[in-house]
Amino acid sequence: MSRSERKWDHIRYALETGQKRLTAFDDIHFIHQSLPNINVSDISIHQKIGGLSLSSPIFINAMTGGGGEKTYSLNKQLAMVAKETGLAIAVGSQMSALKDKSERYTYEVVRKEYPDGVLIANLGSEATPDLAKAAIEMIEANALQIHLNVIQELAMPEGDREFSGALRRIESIVKEVNVPVIIKEVGFGMGKETVESLASVGVSIVDVGGFGGTNFAEIENKRSVNSKEVFNLWGIPTAISIAEASRAPVPMTIIGSGGFTSSIDMAKGIALGASAVGFAGYFLKILVEEGMESLKEEIISLHHGLKMIMTALGAQSILELQSAQLIVSGYTHHWLTERGIDTKIYSQRTIK
Ligand code: FNR
Repeated sequence: MSRSERKWDHIRYALETGQKRLTAFDDIHFIHQSLPNINVSDISIHQKIGGLSLSSPIFINAMTGGGGEKTYSLNKQLAMVAKETGLAIAVGSQMSALKDKSERYTYEVVRKEYPDGVLIANLGSEATPDLAKAAIEMIEANALQIHLNVIQELAMPEGDREFSGALRRIESIVKEVNVPVIIKEVGFGMGKETVESLASVGVSIVDVGGFGGTNFAEIENKRSVNSKEVFNLWGIPTAISIAEASRAPVPMTIIGSGGFTSSIDMAKGIALGASAVGFAGYFLKILVEEGMESLKEEIISLHHGLKMIMTALGAQSILELQSAQLIVSGYTHHWLTERGIDTKIYSQRTIK
């Protein structure tokens, strides 16, 4: 199967398998405030990540490119929506265009449509610093994502089987490129030890890419004739992964992603420690099934919902939302307690 056919398979099966919402956000509860002492007009959702100024904490996460006309058209539409709503946007892995120049246009269209946007390049951890620089240059990217997808590769019959040396390669990329580097998972989450290892080689931004939304183990099993479903329920749920990453004893900016479909989950993710939130599968489904206008309306509605929640909590900024009071219950409480994370840090703090 060609790389471009595989890209289309991923889109098709991501739409078919959908979002199961196994993200653990149902274990997270805000404590209601009857006297928030704030007005809706006081709320700002602007955010800064790695020195980049963002008008919203929402961004469109890496999905596509490199599969000819169909992926060109999706990237073009995503870029148009991102421009109209002021969101940052990541492209899918650019390896295909680094190997085959005829695929470049499927990524370049994003910069063409969104000349002054915050654009994020994307490659896997097999990349060298030179490839990383070429990917950044291809779309004049403002940041670079390096994805970690061991489980996806293991679930894929034609996938990689060699994973040694990734941390050293990441270290050299971080040293050599001149834009912020985000290390991301693709739906299996990151634990605090992974975050510590990444910090030890100079990484300062991670996207936890948690479990509970798009499930690449399931997607690869759909593509395979002899599917082995060992990894279908594998991964750290997004809410737990954000908490783990933000409690790692290292300086790190945390991005939350994996299964986001609502402003309430987004607010919970931020309160658990995320500075921004990436949406992939949910946005793709709206775009493909309902079109650009619907996706634009959904983003406007997510912004509106977030502002209402921030008002209810008395949080004027994303930074303040990060210290809103939360109760962590059930499975998530059990998990975090077992991992030595005291959940009282969330329930007994106050917004300053
Ligand atoms: C992805 N994702 C992804 N990630 C990445 O770093 N490089 C890539 O090329 C792709 N490709 C891709 C294709 C499709 C069709 C989807 C839906 C997703 C993963 C994506 O960025 C994200 O980490 C996961 O999908 C989890 O988030 P959601 O989809 O649950 O919001």
